[in-house]
Amino acid sequence: MQKNLEILNKAVNEWMPEGRPVVQAPPAAELEAKLNLSLGEEGADWDVLEDAVRAYLHYNPDVSQAEFYKLLYSGRNKYALLGDWITSLSNATMHTYQVGPVATLMEMELIRQWNKLVGFDQGNGEGEGVMVAGGSQANLIGMMLARHHACPDYKTKGPQGKTLVAYVSDQAHYSGQKAANVLGIGTDNLIAVATDDAGRMRPDALADEIEKSIAKGHTPFFIGLTAGTTVTGAYDPVKACSEIAKAHDIWLHIDGAWGGPILFSDKHRSLLADSHLADSFAWDAHKLMNVPITAAVILVKHQGALKACCSGGGGDYLFHADENADYNLGERSIQCGRRADALKVWLSWKAIGNNGFAEKIDFLQGMKTECVSQIERCDSLQMLADARYLNVLFRYKPEHMDDEQELRKLNIEICKTMMRSGGPYVDYAQYKGRTGIRLILANTEVTQEHLQRLLDKVQRIGQELSA
Ligand SMILES: Cc1ncc(COP(=O)(O)O)c(C=O)c1O
Repeated sequence: MQKNLEILNKAVNEWMPEGRPVVQAPPAAELEAKLNLSLGEEGADWDVLEDAVRAYLHYNPDVSQAEFYKLLYSGRNKYALLGDWITSLSNATMHTYQVGPVATLMEMELIRQWNKLVGFDQGNGEGEGVMVAGGSQANLIGMMLARHHACPDYKTKGPQGKTLVAYVSDQAHYSGQKAANVLGIGTDNLIAVATDDAGRMRPDALADEIEKSIAKGHTPFFIGLTAGTTVTGAYDPVKACSEIAKAHDIWLHIDGAWGGPILFSDKHRSLLADSHLADSFAWDAHKLMNVPITAAVILVKHQGALKACCSGGGGDYLFHADENADYNLGERSIQCGRRADALKVWLSWKAIGNNGFAEKIDFLQGMKTECVSQIERCDSLQMLADARYLNVLFRYKPEHMDDEQELRKLNIEICKTMMRSGGPYVDYAQYKGRTGIRLILANTEVTQEHLQRLLDKVQRIGQELSA
Protein backbone atom coordinates (compact mmCIF):
# COMPACT_ATOMS: atom_id res chain seq x y z
CA MET A 1 0.00 0.00 0.00
CA GLN A 2 2.94 2.34 0.70
CA LYS A 3 3.92 2.09 -2.97
CA ASN A 4 0.36 2.95 -4.04
CA LEU A 5 0.47 6.13 -2.00
CA GLU A 6 3.93 7.02 -3.32
CA ILE A 7 2.77 6.71 -6.93
CA LEU A 8 -0.47 8.56 -6.22
CA ASN A 9 1.52 11.35 -4.65
CA LYS A 10 3.78 11.63 -7.71
CA ALA A 11 0.78 11.47 -10.02
CA VAL A 12 -0.97 14.35 -8.29
CA ASN A 13 2.05 16.51 -7.48
CA GLU A 14 4.51 15.86 -10.30
CA TRP A 15 2.98 14.26 -13.33
CA MET A 16 0.11 16.66 -13.92
CA PRO A 17 1.90 20.02 -13.68
CA GLU A 18 -0.09 23.20 -13.88
CA GLY A 19 -0.17 24.76 -17.32
CA ARG A 20 0.47 21.53 -19.20
CA PRO A 21 -1.28 21.22 -22.57
CA VAL A 22 -4.98 20.40 -22.23
CA VAL A 23 -4.57 17.78 -24.92
CA GLN A 24 -1.46 16.03 -26.20
CA ALA A 25 -2.44 12.62 -27.54
CA PRO A 26 -0.90 11.70 -30.88
CA PRO A 27 -3.06 9.70 -33.34
CA ALA A 28 -3.92 6.22 -32.01
CA ALA A 29 -1.60 4.22 -34.29
CA GLU A 30 1.34 6.47 -33.41
CA LEU A 31 0.72 6.14 -29.67
CA GLU A 32 0.22 2.39 -29.97
CA ALA A 33 3.63 2.10 -31.63
CA LYS A 34 5.24 4.31 -29.02
CA LEU A 35 3.96 2.58 -25.88
CA ASN A 36 4.62 -1.00 -24.97
CA LEU A 37 1.35 -2.11 -23.40
CA SER A 38 1.76 -5.83 -24.01
CA LEU A 39 0.87 -8.31 -21.28
CA GLY A 40 2.75 -11.56 -20.83
CA GLU A 41 3.45 -14.66 -18.79
CA GLU A 42 5.73 -13.04 -16.22
CA GLY A 43 4.69 -10.35 -13.76
CA ALA A 44 6.38 -6.96 -13.94
CA ASP A 45 7.91 -4.91 -11.13
CA TRP A 46 6.66 -1.57 -9.78
CA ASP A 47 8.89 0.54 -12.05
CA VAL A 48 7.13 -0.79 -15.11
CA LEU A 49 3.74 -0.11 -13.56
CA GLU A 50 4.81 3.37 -12.53
CA ASP A 51 5.91 4.18 -16.08
CA ALA A 52 2.57 2.98 -17.41
CA VAL A 53 0.64 5.15 -14.96
CA ARG A 54 2.75 8.14 -15.89
CA ALA A 55 2.17 7.62 -19.61
CA TYR A 56 -1.53 7.08 -18.99
CA LEU A 57 -1.82 10.47 -17.32
CA HIS A 58 0.53 12.22 -19.75
CA TYR A 59 -1.49 11.34 -22.84
CA ASN A 60 -4.95 11.70 -21.34
CA PRO A 61 -6.54 15.11 -21.98
CA ASP A 62 -6.40 17.17 -18.80
CA VAL A 63 -10.12 17.40 -18.18
CA SER A 64 -9.53 19.39 -15.00
CA GLN A 65 -8.42 22.51 -16.87
CA ALA A 66 -10.64 25.48 -17.59
CA GLU A 67 -9.80 25.21 -21.29
CA PHE A 68 -11.22 21.70 -21.56
CA TYR A 69 -14.52 22.64 -23.25
CA LYS A 70 -14.96 19.45 -25.26
CA LEU A 71 -17.33 17.38 -23.13
CA LEU A 72 -20.26 17.91 -20.79
CA TYR A 73 -17.95 18.04 -17.77
CA SER A 74 -14.74 19.88 -16.94
CA GLY A 75 -12.78 20.67 -13.80
CA ARG A 76 -11.89 18.76 -10.69
CA ASN A 77 -14.29 18.09 -7.84
CA LYS A 78 -11.93 17.26 -4.98
CA TYR A 79 -14.65 15.93 -2.68
CA ALA A 80 -15.93 13.53 -5.31
CA LEU A 81 -12.40 12.47 -6.15
CA LEU A 82 -11.82 11.54 -2.51
CA GLY A 83 -15.08 9.58 -2.63
CA ASP A 84 -13.97 7.78 -5.77
CA TRP A 85 -10.69 6.69 -4.16
CA ILE A 86 -12.41 5.54 -0.99
CA THR A 87 -15.02 3.67 -3.03
CA SER A 88 -12.28 1.61 -4.64
CA LEU A 89 -10.61 1.09 -1.29
CA SER A 90 -13.82 -0.32 0.17
CA ASN A 91 -14.88 -2.18 -2.98
CA ALA A 92 -18.44 -2.10 -1.70
CA THR A 93 -21.15 -3.36 -4.04
CA MET A 94 -24.71 -2.23 -4.19
CA HIS A 95 -26.95 -5.25 -4.57
CA THR A 96 -27.59 -5.72 -0.87
CA TYR A 97 -27.38 -3.61 2.25
CA GLN A 98 -24.93 -6.03 3.93
CA VAL A 99 -22.12 -5.39 1.46
CA GLY A 100 -22.56 -1.64 1.18
CA PRO A 101 -24.36 -0.46 4.32
CA VAL A 102 -23.36 3.23 4.40
CA ALA A 103 -23.28 3.42 0.61
CA THR A 104 -26.88 2.15 0.56
CA LEU A 105 -28.06 4.73 3.08
CA MET A 106 -26.23 7.48 1.20
CA GLU A 107 -27.77 6.39 -2.10
CA MET A 108 -31.22 6.45 -0.50
CA GLU A 109 -30.67 10.00 0.74
CA LEU A 110 -29.39 11.10 -2.67
CA ILE A 111 -32.48 9.62 -4.29
CA ARG A 112 -34.73 11.53 -1.86
CA GLN A 113 -32.92 14.78 -2.70
CA TRP A 114 -33.02 14.20 -6.45
CA ASN A 115 -36.73 13.37 -6.29
CA LYS A 116 -37.31 16.57 -4.36
CA LEU A 117 -35.55 18.62 -7.04
CA VAL A 118 -37.51 16.97 -9.85
CA GLY A 119 -40.70 17.58 -7.88
CA PHE A 120 -42.03 14.07 -7.36
CA ASP A 121 -44.31 14.28 -4.32
CA GLN A 122 -42.60 12.09 -1.74
CA GLY A 123 -45.06 13.19 0.95
CA ASN A 124 -47.75 11.50 -1.10
CA GLY A 125 -45.92 8.29 -1.85
CA GLU A 126 -44.27 9.39 -5.09
CA GLY A 127 -40.63 9.04 -5.99
CA GLU A 128 -38.04 6.29 -6.04
CA GLY A 129 -34.86 5.59 -7.96
CA VAL A 130 -31.63 3.71 -8.30
CA MET A 131 -28.15 4.78 -9.32
CA VAL A 132 -27.06 3.51 -12.71
CA ALA A 133 -23.98 3.33 -14.91
CA GLY A 134 -24.63 6.55 -16.82
CA GLY A 135 -27.35 8.47 -18.58
CA SER A 136 -27.58 5.90 -21.37
CA GLN A 137 -28.53 3.24 -18.85
CA ALA A 138 -30.94 5.63 -17.14
CA ASN A 139 -32.64 6.22 -20.50
CA LEU A 140 -32.68 2.49 -21.18
CA ILE A 141 -34.43 1.84 -17.88
CA GLY A 142 -36.83 4.72 -18.54
CA MET A 143 -37.82 3.00 -21.78
CA MET A 144 -37.99 -0.38 -20.05
CA LEU A 145 -40.36 1.05 -17.43
CA ALA A 146 -42.49 2.43 -20.24
CA ARG A 147 -42.57 -0.98 -21.92
CA HIS A 148 -43.58 -2.58 -18.64
CA HIS A 149 -46.31 0.03 -18.19
CA ALA A 150 -47.73 -0.56 -21.68
CA CYS A 151 -47.23 -4.35 -21.73
CA PRO A 152 -46.65 -5.90 -18.29
CA ASP A 153 -46.41 -9.34 -19.99
CA TYR A 154 -43.48 -8.30 -22.16
CA LYS A 155 -41.08 -9.09 -19.33
CA THR A 156 -42.11 -12.74 -19.20
CA LYS A 157 -43.62 -13.48 -22.61
CA GLY A 158 -41.83 -11.17 -25.04
CA PRO A 159 -43.50 -8.98 -27.68
CA GLN A 160 -46.44 -11.27 -28.63
CA GLY A 161 -46.84 -9.62 -32.02
CA LYS A 162 -47.15 -6.04 -30.77
CA THR A 163 -45.24 -3.20 -32.41
CA LEU A 164 -44.29 -0.71 -29.75
CA VAL A 165 -43.30 2.79 -30.83
CA ALA A 166 -41.18 5.34 -28.96
CA TYR A 167 -40.76 9.08 -29.63
CA VAL A 168 -37.81 11.34 -28.95
CA SER A 169 -36.84 14.60 -30.63
CA ASP A 170 -34.54 14.76 -33.62
CA GLN A 171 -32.00 16.35 -31.26
CA ALA A 172 -32.16 13.57 -28.63
CA HIS A 173 -29.07 11.68 -27.52
CA TYR A 174 -28.27 8.47 -29.39
CA SER A 175 -28.85 6.42 -26.23
CA GLY A 176 -32.51 6.24 -27.32
CA GLN A 177 -31.41 4.09 -30.25
CA LYS A 178 -29.32 1.89 -27.99
CA ALA A 179 -32.30 1.41 -25.70
CA ALA A 180 -34.68 0.58 -28.57
CA ASN A 181 -32.14 -1.95 -29.78
CA VAL A 182 -31.48 -3.60 -26.40
CA LEU A 183 -35.16 -3.76 -25.43
CA GLY A 184 -36.23 -5.40 -28.69
CA ILE A 185 -38.32 -2.40 -29.75
CA GLY A 186 -36.35 -2.00 -33.00
CA THR A 187 -34.59 1.21 -33.86
CA ASP A 188 -37.01 1.85 -36.76
CA ASN A 189 -39.72 2.14 -34.11
CA LEU A 190 -37.96 5.02 -32.42
CA ILE A 191 -39.40 8.10 -34.09
CA ALA A 192 -37.31 11.27 -34.32
CA VAL A 193 -39.90 14.01 -33.81
CA ALA A 194 -39.26 17.35 -35.52
CA THR A 195 -37.95 20.24 -33.46
CA ASP A 196 -38.52 23.98 -33.69
CA ASP A 197 -35.87 26.57 -34.55
CA ALA A 198 -34.58 26.44 -30.97
CA GLY A 199 -34.06 22.65 -31.12
CA ARG A 200 -37.09 21.81 -28.91
CA MET A 201 -39.52 19.01 -29.68
CA ARG A 202 -42.62 20.36 -31.42
CA PRO A 203 -45.72 19.13 -29.56
CA ASP A 204 -47.82 19.33 -32.75
CA ALA A 205 -45.30 17.11 -34.55
CA LEU A 206 -45.35 14.68 -31.62
CA ALA A 207 -49.16 14.46 -31.75
CA ASP A 208 -49.02 13.86 -35.53
CA GLU A 209 -46.45 11.08 -35.20
CA ILE A 210 -48.52 9.35 -32.52
CA GLU A 211 -51.63 9.51 -34.71
CA LYS A 212 -49.66 8.01 -37.62
CA SER A 213 -48.50 5.11 -35.44
CA ILE A 214 -52.02 4.44 -34.17
CA ALA A 215 -53.35 4.45 -37.74
CA LYS A 216 -50.84 1.70 -38.55
CA GLY A 217 -52.09 -0.39 -35.63
CA HIS A 218 -48.93 0.22 -33.61
CA THR A 219 -48.75 0.91 -29.88
CA PRO A 220 -47.17 4.22 -28.78
CA PHE A 221 -45.58 3.55 -25.40
CA PHE A 222 -42.72 5.99 -24.67
CA ILE A 223 -42.15 9.72 -25.06
CA GLY A 224 -38.59 10.71 -24.21
CA LEU A 225 -38.10 14.43 -23.76
CA THR A 226 -34.68 15.98 -23.40
CA ALA A 227 -33.77 18.57 -20.80
CA GLY A 228 -30.52 19.95 -22.20
CA THR A 229 -29.79 18.45 -25.60
CA THR A 230 -26.26 17.26 -26.23
CA VAL A 231 -25.35 19.66 -29.01
CA THR A 232 -27.25 22.86 -28.21
CA GLY A 233 -28.66 22.45 -24.69
CA ALA A 234 -32.32 22.80 -25.71
CA TYR A 235 -35.14 21.96 -23.28
CA ASP A 236 -38.20 20.22 -24.70
CA PRO A 237 -41.58 21.64 -23.58
CA VAL A 238 -42.72 19.36 -20.78
CA LYS A 239 -46.26 20.57 -20.13
CA ALA A 240 -47.54 20.44 -23.69
CA CYS A 241 -45.97 17.03 -24.30
CA SER A 242 -47.24 15.67 -20.99
CA GLU A 243 -50.80 16.49 -22.02
CA ILE A 244 -50.33 14.43 -25.18
CA ALA A 245 -48.77 11.61 -23.15
CA LYS A 246 -51.66 11.66 -20.70
CA ALA A 247 -54.30 11.64 -23.44
CA HIS A 248 -52.81 8.41 -24.84
CA ASP A 249 -51.60 6.88 -21.55
CA ILE A 250 -48.00 6.97 -22.77
CA TRP A 251 -45.07 6.94 -20.32
CA LEU A 252 -43.29 10.30 -20.20
CA HIS A 253 -39.55 10.18 -19.56
CA ILE A 254 -37.21 13.16 -19.31
CA ASP A 255 -33.55 12.77 -20.18
CA GLY A 256 -32.01 15.32 -17.84
CA ALA A 257 -28.55 13.72 -18.01
CA TRP A 258 -26.98 17.04 -18.95
CA GLY A 259 -29.60 19.66 -18.14
CA GLY A 260 -31.19 18.25 -14.96
CA PRO A 261 -28.97 20.25 -12.58
CA ILE A 262 -30.64 23.48 -13.77
CA LEU A 263 -33.22 22.54 -11.11
CA PHE A 264 -30.75 23.67 -8.43
CA SER A 265 -30.99 27.26 -9.63
CA ASP A 266 -34.00 29.40 -8.67
CA LYS A 267 -32.88 31.84 -11.33
CA HIS A 268 -32.82 29.36 -14.21
CA ARG A 269 -35.00 26.39 -13.24
CA SER A 270 -37.90 27.76 -15.33
CA LEU A 271 -36.11 26.18 -18.34
CA LEU A 272 -37.24 22.87 -16.90
CA ALA A 273 -40.60 23.87 -15.49
CA ASP A 274 -43.03 21.01 -14.89
CA SER A 275 -40.42 18.28 -14.51
CA HIS A 276 -42.78 16.71 -11.94
CA LEU A 277 -45.15 15.78 -14.77
CA ALA A 278 -42.72 13.09 -15.98
CA ASP A 279 -43.03 9.43 -15.04
CA SER A 280 -39.27 8.99 -14.98
CA PHE A 281 -36.20 11.20 -15.10
CA ALA A 282 -32.53 10.54 -15.97
CA TRP A 283 -29.83 12.61 -14.23
CA ASP A 284 -26.05 12.36 -14.59
CA ALA A 285 -23.96 13.50 -11.64
CA HIS A 286 -20.89 12.93 -13.80
CA LYS A 287 -21.73 15.80 -16.10
CA LEU A 288 -22.45 19.23 -14.62
CA MET A 289 -22.00 18.09 -10.99
CA ASN A 290 -18.53 16.97 -12.08
CA VAL A 291 -18.35 13.72 -10.15
CA PRO A 292 -15.86 11.24 -11.68
CA ILE A 293 -17.49 8.88 -14.19
CA THR A 294 -19.77 7.04 -13.61
CA ALA A 295 -22.45 8.56 -11.42
CA ALA A 296 -26.05 8.74 -12.60
CA VAL A 297 -29.57 7.95 -11.47
CA ILE A 298 -32.95 6.95 -12.83
CA LEU A 299 -35.75 8.55 -10.82
CA VAL A 300 -39.29 7.25 -11.02
CA LYS A 301 -42.54 8.83 -9.91
CA HIS A 302 -44.32 5.54 -9.19
CA GLN A 303 -42.99 3.70 -6.16
CA GLY A 304 -42.48 -0.02 -6.76
CA ALA A 305 -42.21 0.41 -10.53
CA LEU A 306 -38.47 -0.31 -10.63
CA LYS A 307 -38.74 -3.57 -8.75
CA ALA A 308 -41.73 -4.71 -10.76
CA CYS A 309 -39.89 -4.01 -13.99
CA CYS A 310 -36.27 -4.89 -13.21
CA SER A 311 -36.34 -7.66 -10.61
CA GLY A 312 -35.93 -11.33 -11.38
CA GLY A 313 -33.86 -14.04 -9.75
CA GLY A 314 -31.34 -13.89 -6.95
CA GLY A 315 -33.89 -14.52 -4.20
CA ASP A 316 -32.42 -17.91 -3.38
CA TYR A 317 -28.89 -16.83 -2.64
CA LEU A 318 -28.66 -13.05 -2.44
CA PHE A 319 -31.83 -11.16 -1.61
CA HIS A 320 -32.69 -12.63 1.78
CA ALA A 321 -36.09 -11.80 3.29
CA ASP A 322 -34.62 -10.39 6.51
CA GLU A 323 -34.90 -7.10 8.39
CA ASN A 324 -32.78 -5.38 5.72
CA ALA A 325 -34.84 -6.53 2.75
CA ASP A 326 -36.29 -3.06 2.07
CA TYR A 327 -32.75 -1.69 1.87
CA ASN A 328 -31.55 -4.09 -0.82
CA LEU A 329 -31.40 -1.77 -3.81
CA GLY A 330 -30.30 -4.56 -6.17
CA GLU A 331 -33.84 -5.62 -7.03
CA ARG A 332 -34.47 -2.19 -8.54
CA SER A 333 -31.42 -2.52 -10.77
CA ILE A 334 -30.56 -4.41 -13.95
CA GLN A 335 -27.08 -5.03 -12.57
CA CYS A 336 -25.92 -7.52 -9.95
CA GLY A 337 -22.55 -6.21 -8.76
CA ARG A 338 -22.82 -2.44 -8.96
CA ARG A 339 -20.15 0.07 -8.05
CA ALA A 340 -20.99 2.18 -4.99
CA ASP A 341 -21.23 5.50 -6.83
CA ALA A 342 -23.14 7.09 -3.96
CA LEU A 343 -20.17 8.05 -1.78
CA LYS A 344 -18.52 10.40 -4.28
CA VAL A 345 -21.82 12.11 -5.06
CA TRP A 346 -22.84 12.32 -1.42
CA LEU A 347 -19.48 13.79 -0.28
CA SER A 348 -19.51 16.47 -2.96
CA TRP A 349 -23.19 17.32 -2.42
CA LYS A 350 -22.58 17.52 1.35
CA ALA A 351 -19.55 19.79 0.85
CA ILE A 352 -21.03 22.00 -1.87
CA GLY A 353 -24.70 22.02 -0.90
CA ASN A 354 -27.67 22.89 -3.10
CA ASN A 355 -26.65 26.54 -2.93
CA GLY A 356 -23.16 25.76 -4.19
CA PHE A 357 -24.54 23.96 -7.24
CA ALA A 358 -27.00 26.82 -7.82
CA GLU A 359 -24.10 29.30 -7.72
CA LYS A 360 -22.18 27.19 -10.21
CA ILE A 361 -25.06 27.23 -12.67
CA ASP A 362 -25.72 30.94 -12.22
CA PHE A 363 -22.03 31.73 -12.70
CA LEU A 364 -21.75 29.58 -15.82
CA GLN A 365 -24.96 31.01 -17.28
CA GLY A 366 -23.41 34.46 -16.82
CA MET A 367 -20.22 33.38 -18.58
CA LYS A 368 -22.29 31.86 -21.38
CA THR A 369 -24.20 35.11 -21.89
CA GLU A 370 -20.95 37.06 -22.04
CA CYS A 371 -19.40 34.54 -24.43
CA VAL A 372 -22.39 34.74 -26.79
CA SER A 373 -22.14 38.55 -26.78
CA GLN A 374 -18.43 38.30 -27.61
CA ILE A 375 -19.25 36.00 -30.52
CA GLU A 376 -22.01 38.27 -31.76
CA ARG A 377 -19.62 41.23 -31.70
CA CYS A 378 -17.18 39.47 -34.08
CA ASP A 379 -17.94 39.80 -37.79
CA SER A 380 -16.25 36.51 -38.61
CA LEU A 381 -18.03 34.44 -35.92
CA GLN A 382 -21.61 33.27 -36.10
CA MET A 383 -23.88 31.57 -33.55
CA LEU A 384 -25.58 28.48 -35.00
CA ALA A 385 -28.19 27.84 -32.32
CA ASP A 386 -29.94 29.39 -29.36
CA ALA A 387 -27.78 29.08 -26.26
CA ARG A 388 -30.31 28.73 -23.44
CA TYR A 389 -28.11 26.47 -21.34
CA LEU A 390 -24.35 25.97 -21.24
CA ASN A 391 -23.72 24.86 -24.85
CA VAL A 392 -22.44 27.48 -27.27
CA LEU A 393 -22.51 26.32 -30.89
CA PHE A 394 -20.83 28.80 -33.19
CA ARG A 395 -18.62 28.85 -36.26
CA TYR A 396 -15.95 30.80 -38.00
CA LYS A 397 -17.34 32.24 -41.21
CA PRO A 398 -15.24 34.34 -43.55
CA GLU A 399 -17.29 36.89 -45.44
CA HIS A 400 -16.55 35.35 -48.81
CA MET A 401 -17.46 31.76 -47.86
CA ASP A 402 -21.09 30.56 -48.08
CA ASP A 403 -20.81 26.94 -49.11
CA GLU A 404 -21.87 24.68 -46.20
CA GLN A 405 -19.41 21.93 -47.07
CA GLU A 406 -16.51 24.37 -47.25
CA LEU A 407 -17.53 25.93 -43.95
CA ARG A 408 -17.83 22.50 -42.37
CA LYS A 409 -14.35 21.54 -43.55
CA LEU A 410 -12.89 24.80 -42.32
CA ASN A 411 -14.43 24.59 -38.85
CA ILE A 412 -13.42 20.95 -38.42
CA GLU A 413 -9.87 21.90 -39.36
CA ILE A 414 -9.91 24.79 -36.87
CA CYS A 415 -10.83 22.34 -34.09
CA LYS A 416 -8.16 19.86 -35.16
CA THR A 417 -5.46 22.53 -35.47
CA MET A 418 -6.30 23.83 -32.01
CA MET A 419 -6.15 20.29 -30.63
CA ARG A 420 -2.78 19.61 -32.24
CA SER A 421 -1.45 22.81 -30.68
CA GLY A 422 -2.40 21.62 -27.18
CA GLY A 423 -5.67 23.49 -26.69
CA PRO A 424 -8.06 25.03 -25.92
CA TYR A 425 -9.93 21.78 -26.46
CA VAL A 426 -13.31 22.09 -28.19
CA ASP A 427 -15.15 19.78 -30.56
CA TYR A 428 -17.27 20.22 -33.65
CA ALA A 429 -20.87 19.15 -34.07
CA GLN A 430 -23.67 19.36 -36.59
CA TYR A 431 -26.98 21.08 -36.01
CA LYS A 432 -29.74 21.30 -38.60
CA GLY A 433 -27.37 20.80 -41.52
CA ARG A 434 -24.67 23.23 -40.38
CA THR A 435 -21.40 22.37 -38.63
CA GLY A 436 -20.07 24.45 -35.81
CA ILE A 437 -17.67 24.49 -32.89
CA ARG A 438 -19.31 23.22 -29.72
CA LEU A 439 -18.11 24.96 -26.60
CA ILE A 440 -19.35 23.59 -23.29
CA LEU A 441 -19.23 25.75 -20.18
CA ALA A 442 -18.99 23.38 -17.24
CA ASN A 443 -15.92 24.57 -15.33
CA THR A 444 -16.17 27.34 -12.73
CA GLU A 445 -12.48 28.16 -13.18
CA VAL A 446 -13.23 29.61 -16.59
CA THR A 447 -12.66 33.36 -16.99
CA GLN A 448 -13.45 36.00 -19.60
CA GLU A 449 -9.76 35.85 -20.55
CA HIS A 450 -9.97 32.12 -21.25
CA LEU A 451 -12.97 32.64 -23.50
CA GLN A 452 -11.36 35.59 -25.27
CA ARG A 453 -8.25 33.47 -25.86
CA LEU A 454 -10.38 30.74 -27.40
CA LEU A 455 -12.30 33.09 -29.69
CA ASP A 456 -9.10 34.87 -30.72
CA LYS A 457 -7.43 31.58 -31.53
CA VAL A 458 -10.42 30.35 -33.54
CA GLN A 459 -10.30 33.55 -35.60
CA ARG A 460 -6.54 33.47 -36.03
CA ILE A 461 -6.51 29.84 -37.19
CA GLY A 462 -9.62 30.42 -39.30
CA GLN A 463 -7.96 33.35 -41.05
CA GLU A 464 -4.78 31.39 -41.73
CA LEU A 465 -6.65 28.36 -43.06
CA SER A 466 -9.03 30.31 -45.28
CA ALA A 467 -6.46 32.81 -46.61
C1 LIG B 1 -28.64 14.45 -23.29
C2 LIG B 1 -27.81 13.25 -22.99
N1 LIG B 1 -28.40 12.13 -22.56
C3 LIG B 1 -27.70 11.01 -22.29
C4 LIG B 1 -26.35 10.97 -22.47
C5 LIG B 1 -25.60 9.71 -22.18
O1 LIG B 1 -25.02 9.82 -20.95
P1 LIG B 1 -23.85 8.81 -20.49
O2 LIG B 1 -22.64 9.23 -21.25
O3 LIG B 1 -23.77 9.08 -19.04
O4 LIG B 1 -24.30 7.44 -20.82
C6 LIG B 1 -25.68 12.11 -22.92
C7 LIG B 1 -24.22 12.10 -23.10
O5 LIG B 1 -23.61 13.02 -23.55
C8 LIG B 1 -26.43 13.27 -23.19
O6 LIG B 1 -25.85 14.39 -23.65
